[in-house]
Amino acid sequence: MKRIGVLISGGGTNLQAMIDKQGSVIKSGKIVCVCSNSQDAYGLERAKRAGIPTKVIRKNADCGGDTEEFSRRICAYMKEMQVDIIVLAGFMAIFGGELLREYSNRIINIHPSLIPSFCGKGMYGLHVHEAALSYGVKVTGATTHFVNEVVDGGKIIMQKAVYVEEGDTPETLQRRVMEQAEWNILPETVEKVCAALDGKE
Ligand code: GRF
Repeated sequence: MKRIGVLISGGGTNLQAMIDKQGSVIKSGKIVCVCSNSQDAYGLERAKRAGIPTKVIRKNADCGGDTEEFSRRICAYMKEMQVDIIVLAGFMAIFGGELLREYSNRIINIHPSLIPSFCGKGMYGLHVHEAALSYGVKVTGATTHFVNEVVDGGKIIMQKAVYVEEGDTPETLQRRVMEQAEWNILPETVEKVCAALDGKE
């Protein structure tokens, strides 16, 4: 059983999807802690409701805006909780070297487009879906990938396509991408990575 740490910043619907699929889809791992960079993240409530320990580490208020210190503190918490793999589930902060080095090939992110479309700097939240609609693509989707030093640039693990519909707004498209793609491929990816690590060790 691998120990999973989840980093969030907001609503935490992807976290909820993983919580709901523990034991069914996620069989080789268990969520052991949730860390947020915002104390107002609703995802913290979801974690507490599921009996998962939580921690808030804020880049400005707790780390003086220092990315390295922020990264070091998240890393220390993950180590303290004996985390094997880290899942970024709507984590909106950039972190630095230490976490990437310590958890190399063990940090997963979910991005709400088919990478390499609509990704990279500035492409987060509704911006991604606005960009997809303004380009006029007919198919978009979501991607899970390993995290490296390039934003949205690590090795792709899974992708799922979602059709754009006539009259879509960024909000309706975001919702469909979540329902049809993100909430499915994130738990599946977590299981895949946990099972692979379990096999190796
Ligand atoms: C999702 O669209 C995810 O792909 C992106 O941030 C959003 C987080 O939503 N990285 P939630 O907090 O999981 O509801």
